[in-house]
Amino acid sequence: QNHERERSFERYREIISTLPKEKGWVTEHLYQYQGCWYRTPSAIQGVIWMQEHFKPRPADVLLVTPPKSGTTWFKSLLFAIMNRTQFDTSTHPLLTTSPHELVPFMEMFLHMNIPFPDPDPLSPPRLFHTHTPFTSLPQSVIDSQCRIVYVSRNPKDVFVSFYCFLQGDNNSAIRLSFEEAFEQYCKGFSPYGPFWDHILGYWKASSKWPERVLLLKYEDMKRDSSFHLKRTAEFIGQPFSSEEEKQGLVHEIIKLCSFESLSNMKVNKTGTLRVGYLTVDKNSFFRKGEVGDWKNHLTAEMAERLDRIVERNLDGCDFSF
Ligand code: A3P
Repeated sequence: QNHERERSFERYREIISTLPKEKGWVTEHLYQYQGCWYRTPSAIQGVIWMQEHFKPRPADVLLVTPPKSGTTWFKSLLFAIMNRTQFDTSTHPLLTTSPHELVPFMEMFLHMNIPFPDPDPLSPPRLFHTHTPFTSLPQSVIDSQCRIVYVSRNPKDVFVSFYCFLQGDNNSAIRLSFEEAFEQYCKGFSPYGPFWDHILGYWKASSKWPERVLLLKYEDMKRDSSFHLKRTAEFIGQPFSSEEEKQGLVHEIIKLCSFESLSNMKVNKTGTLRVGYLTVDKNSFFRKGEVGDWKNHLTAEMAERLDRIVERNLDGCDFSF
């Protein structure tokens, strides 16, 4: 296995040395692989490894998010939905384990030395997460029956959240000013960007295969958690029974996974988390957890510019934020 990994690393290094580069946000460059920008060559190595090795099972659920769109929250919600018969709220793994450890990043398996295909002893059904755009998902995923839950968030809030996150990021080498980073974001040069292509890819997939790809929005889940949680459970084939609803299970999950609840747990407040080749402060995944915080950071012109980019690039999709 180690020998195979080493040979793969060698091959990936060759591929990556030929890729286009652009000015990065926190590392010197972004690297473009299959039309998408990545913050390090290691991130791309992880994606290629996933493309070559991941073997989905029909019951698998894949959560996909652009970074800073609520990954931590939706990992928790999906984990809680899928494991609700095994745990109650007093013994729940979310009380003692970070959502990022409970739901692994698929593109980090290479760097964490987790062998495919069975890294999750709690399942089936297994739950994985990736930031990878639709066009770079493993062919095995496209060909399989597994369900994909895609979450997007207002790009204005995503940009602000991203910029704030990167300010506290220990893995950064250089830092762009807020204005410079905004400029790069608007041009599509951001990790996993262009952000509009990311959304568009999954929007198209969902239009083609509505039974396989569910589109959710951070804002919708905030506004009507109960409705969207039930919708998600139904989509992944684990609908809440009326008995469960009567017992208040939907609301228990919403409460357990709320910003107030997760951000105040010791397991999410202190210490660091190893995410593949990155070490991240656990509390950096929790900032404000609000809709519309962009109003405190973006000028009217900046907001207008992002709105126009969304209108232009997502024209024809029912994507308003
Ligand atoms: P803000 O920076 O706007 O506060 P990700 O998990 O994809 O990195 O996204 C992080 C964003 O989700 C941050 O947004 C964070 O505060 C917010 N978040 C984390 N947990 C949340 C929760 N339980 N409910 C709502 N938002 C949450």
